[in-house]
Amino acid sequence: MCSLLLLLVVAPAAALRGTPLRATTRLDYDHLYHIGSPVDVFKHCVLTALLRRCTEKASPLTYVETHAGRGLYPFDSEEAATLAEFEDGHHKLRARAAGREKLHADIAAYLAAQRPEEYVGSAALAALALREGDRGVFFERDETCADALTDALSRLGAESTVEVGDGYAGTKKLRVSTRGLVFVDPPYQSGSDTDLIAALCGHLKQYWRAARIAVWYPRGDGADARTERLRHEVLAATGAFDVLDAHLTVPGDASARLRSSGMLLVQPPYGFDDDLESLLPELAELLAPGGSWGVEWLRRG
Ligand SMILES: C[S@@+](CC[C@H](N)C(=O)[O-])C[C@H]1O[C@@H](n2cnc3c(N)ncnc32)[C@H](O)[C@@H]1O
Repeated sequence: MCSLLLLLVVAPAAALRGTPLRATTRLDYDHLYHIGSPVDVFKHCVLTALLRRCTEKASPLTYVETHAGRGLYPFDSEEAATLAEFEDGHHKLRARAAGREKLHADIAAYLAAQRPEEYVGSAALAALALREGDRGVFFERDETCADALTDALSRLGAESTVEVGDGYAGTKKLRVSTRGLVFVDPPYQSGSDTDLIAALCGHLKQYWRAARIAVWYPRGDGADARTERLRHEVLAATGAFDVLDAHLTVPGDASARLRSSGMLLVQPPYGFDDDLESLLPELAELLAPGGSWGVEWLRRG
């Protein structure tokens, strides 16, 4: 009774990813509570577009995810059902997209990758997109999530490496000679993520120059100063590299749910700003009438 009460009290507030609140009594942060929310859909549609562009070239790609999560997330789990954020995001998008004659290719690809019983998260989307000869390396600090991810990737038939441990430090230890895409998706609960992200970007700029970097971040709800700092630090750490910023906001009560998030893209593929400018308006409109979006070069060489 006591733990049930605790869960009921903290869970809605914990929907504001980026606050120091705990989403569960067991883990610091469990993405199961937030699967398929509007901000998750934005993140995973942009990632789908990035993966499409990064797998167009024949040369091998190394994909690294610093905060991989579970890969596949059952919709009917107690955690996912607590907030049911997917009803406002993934489910709404799917229902509205079904009534359309023409759908943006990246939204269609995101929806096609999804499964009826399980939400397909970033690691699973990436594992499905990688080709023979590509490599996937997934870091996850929580052992339970890492075990779930290993199981998910094996069920998908993916040959990827799951490393249990800190994704910032682990990524720095990799020695890679191929093109790369590094996806950084932290829970923003430690207070030090901005510094850690900037340090990782600086490291990659020096030691893995062929890596593109994508950093998801929460927006609004008092996060503006932190967003500004993140943008500033990433720009400072990446020298002359191009940096693109994309974001999407859906209307609604921001005190109850995270409604807005962004993605910083270091060395995005050529013309990716145009890709996003065709993807995001359709995504915003499908998710919620009155949704807004933006694409902005923070630096362009
Ligand atoms: C936002 S969730 C990841 C969601 C996942 N990328 C997706 O979109 O499906 C963040 C994950 O990072 C894990 N985590 C937290 N700190 C970490 C760290 N320093 N290194 C690796 N994983 C970490 C958490 O256990 C959690 O599973």
